[in-house]
Amino acid sequence: MDIYEIIKKRRTIRRFKQKEIPLELLEKFVDMARIAPSGANMQPLEYIIVNDKKMVEQIFPLTGWAGYLGKDGPPPEGQRPVAYIVVLINKDIKSPTPQHDSGAAIENILLSAIYEGIGTCWIGSVNREKLREILKIPENYEIDTIVALGYPDEESHIEEFSGSVKYWKDEKGVMHVPKRRLKDILHYNKF
Ligand SMILES: Cc1cc2nc3c(=O)[nH]c(=O)nc-3n(C[C@H](O)[C@H](O)[C@H](O)COP(=O)(O)O)c2cc1C
Repeated sequence: MDIYEIIKKRRTIRRFKQKEIPLELLEKFVDMARIAPSGANMQPLEYIIVNDKKMVEQIFPLTGWAGYLGKDGPPPEGQRPVAYIVVLINKDIKSPTPQHDSGAAIENILLSAIYEGIGTCWIGSVNREKLREILKIPENYEIDTIVALGYPDEESHIEEFSGSVKYWKDEKGVMHVPKRRLKDILHYNKF
């Protein structure tokens, strides 16, 4: 896969096979996040890999999934993530752009993962208070967002935007994700 194919192939995956992800791969994804662009190169981000089965089970109830799909949003038992990467911001490092940094770093994780055949869901809807407790995260670290990972057990395709941004699932369980058209978002030389 070349870089364009990887970018196009990456879709949010919310149903996963229950197959372990080698730790070396999870470490590799964090290593790719580590070298992402960073405002003033301050590098305020740190990461927790969670791949212990019991810990993974504890995290799932703290996460929110696919709000547009209602009760069909969250993965059922047997299709839940097998690992998480929790992205932390070290508040003692005075970064001017911590959220931009995490966006760039997390995209590196998502793209590296799909390159390795692993699906991801970037999750902002997370009970940070409980997660902090479970993972013993010190107060001087902000919990940014988390990435859920696993080998994909669903398909998801891009659709042309036609009035609604809401993704949907068809009768075969395939996800469809509308994206705004290039000609509607691109301006040349002036607005
Ligand atoms: C910052 C951020 C937070 C997100 N939080 C969640 C979340 O809490 N739960 C979820 O199911 N998806 C979450 N997503 C995934 C989006 O719903 C998904 O990217 C969007 O629907 C477009 O689908 P695509 O990733 O396949 O292009 C999040 C994405 C981003 C960028």
